[in-house]
Amino acid sequence: MAVADQAREYARQHAAEFQEQLYTLLRIPSVSTDPQHKQDMLRAAEWLAAEMRRVGLDKAEVLPTGGHPVVYGEWLGAGENATTVLIYGHYDVQPAEMADGWSSDPFEPEERDGFIYARGSSDDKGQAFIHIKALESYLQTTGKAPVNVKLLIEGEEEIGSENLTNFIQANTERLKADVCVISDSGMPAIDQPSIVYALRGLSYMEIHVRGSKQDLHSGGYGGIVHNPALALAQIISKFHNPDNSIAVPGFYDDVLPLSDEERAELLKNDIRETTLREITGVTQSWGEEGYTLRERQSARPTLEVNGLYSGFTGEGAKTVLPAKAMAKISCRLVANQKPERIYELVRDYVAQITPPTVTSEVRLLNQGDPAIVDIHAPEMQAAVAAYERGWGIKPIFMREGGSIPVVADFRRELGVPVLLMGFGLSADGAHGPDEHFSVEMFRRGIQTAICFLEEAGR
Ligand code: BES
Ligand code: MN
Ligand code: MN
Repeated sequence: MAVADQAREYARQHAAEFQEQLYTLLRIPSVSTDPQHKQDMLRAAEWLAAEMRRVGLDKAEVLPTGGHPVVYGEWLGAGENATTVLIYGHYDVQPAEMADGWSSDPFEPEERDGFIYARGSSDDKGQAFIHIKALESYLQTTGKAPVNVKLLIEGEEEIGSENLTNFIQANTERLKADVCVISDSGMPAIDQPSIVYALRGLSYMEIHVRGSKQDLHSGGYGGIVHNPALALAQIISKFHNPDNSIAVPGFYDDVLPLSDEERAELLKNDIRETTLREITGVTQSWGEEGYTLRERQSARPTLEVNGLYSGFTGEGAKTVLPAKAMAKISCRLVANQKPERIYELVRDYVAQITPPTVTSEVRLLNQGDPAIVDIHAPEMQAAVAAYERGWGIKPIFMREGGSIPVVADFRRELGVPVLLMGFGLSADGAHGPDEHFSVEMFRRGIQTAICFLEEAGR
């Protein structure tokens, strides 16, 4: 039997066990943004390191950073001349509470209709765990993997990976690899395997608008003092043109135009209006004229309002004229836009359109570079072959709208090419209530990851 066949058989035999083990990880509420979960973050990291050691990695440790720790494990038994694969994932998850609309406890995984329901099941514990199980399948059968493997699982992806860049810079030798694999994205449908070749970047900002020095009686001052909530709404209303493109001057200057060839490719995998309505529950789609839904969702930049805050939002009525208003906004960016530059453009535009009756300030919270991968690069062939073996059909190439800022860091700091081998589904409900992960996808993902290690060794 070929080496991968033995590993693949092991994974099939142990499928139920693997799922139970994933449940143990999913039960730990490792919410990185909430200081109350600091201990849970550590617990999740320790659990992962112990699991890596248990399945046979040479070493696995929890390493401190300026924030939540990273888990680093390696198996270097293939020898100095063999290929080294660096696998990245994240063990932190978005917040989740029953009150957000969950049908079952977000931290008590439950299988329903072939899906595992739990926060982090798809993003990204389930996907990251796939690689640990692929490695286990080799190490527990033949005792060796076809390539050297380094695993880096971080705890701050959902809050912008602020400390990871430093960690990478301080550990370039340790993290040295020939190729980096990230399973933290999705495909449109389980019967349509796909490889992501571009992710969007991000510029996340806050707009603060101030009027009076403190909240006022809206009877006494309404009509003679400009309400900051209204002023903020007026500012926000100037962010888009009638065709829904972005009105910030210079915003599109650095956008790499789509070639006809790429547009044709993206069209093969367009988002259908009916599917969008079904998944999201909206009455109809929205977006920039002149572009397909897939292009708008992944190949075009956006400016979104993520949150609004002003005045009285409690129960009942309070006749108040608020002193201030705040909006959280973010721009998703595409190659070759620069997050810092976009922040400056938005800041200057807001300053220009702020009425003289209020003051405003735009602050940059976090940022990430867009990423685009050469689909013709040699290492891409290993990913294509792996999906083909895992699915029985060739994968398509697609762009994704989300961001993984560290992708650009890997290339810049380590000079390593990145492969985005995601195993999520667009309908998994990542970041929302009832996030789920397909059991079938979990299994195929492990099979594909096993094949990938073999292909990468060729
Ligand atoms: N896994 C996602 C990124 C993603 C989403 C990739 C959809 C492909 C498709 C990741 O965990 C995420 O949520 N990233 C954040 C980054 C931000 C916090 C800097 C995002 O995209 O909002
Ligand atoms: Mn993720
Ligand atoms: Mn996420």
